[in-house]
Amino acid sequence: MKVEFVQLQSHGDERGKLVALEENKNTPFEIKRVYYMFNTKSGVRRGFHAHKELNQLAITVRGSCRFYLDDGKEKIDITLDSPSQGLLLEPYVWHEMYDFSEDCVLMILADKYYDESDYIRSYEEFLEEAKCNVHSPAK
Ligand code: TYD
Repeated sequence: MKVEFVQLQSHGDERGKLVALEENKNTPFEIKRVYYMFNTKSGVRRGFHAHKELNQLAITVRGSCRFYLDDGKEKIDITLDSPSQGLLLEPYVWHEMYDFSEDCVLMILADKYYDESDYIRSYEEFLEEAKCNVHSPAK
């Protein structure tokens, strides 16, 4: 499975570090929505879905967490632990997030507004659709 990271330039000096996100400049899409998860309890696993059209970029602005990605053919586990690295989540990739550090703030940029009808929440349905869909990375 092709896993794409976006390296975000960090402006560092003796005061600390700063990362700027600018739509279509260092983000691979138009930003319609930003959401973030924090205070995630120990042992929690969340996500358990894929999207039909949504593109997302996940950044741990603080702490770390792990991603389990499955494109219907391959499965991979990735650790995200840098505020200057984004993980691209494309449509038809089943994803689960786990092993959140206590201090983890996981920020996600998305190219569409929240739309429940874009979610595939059944793994069986995901496998069926990933096989058929031309946009699927599994193709
Ligand atoms: P949920 O889909 O359960 O999160 P995940 O599957 O990634 O673990 O979302 C939790 C709640 O937040 C749910 O009631 C829907 C709501 N929500 C929004 O209102 N807007 C959003 O952009 C997102 C991602 C979730």
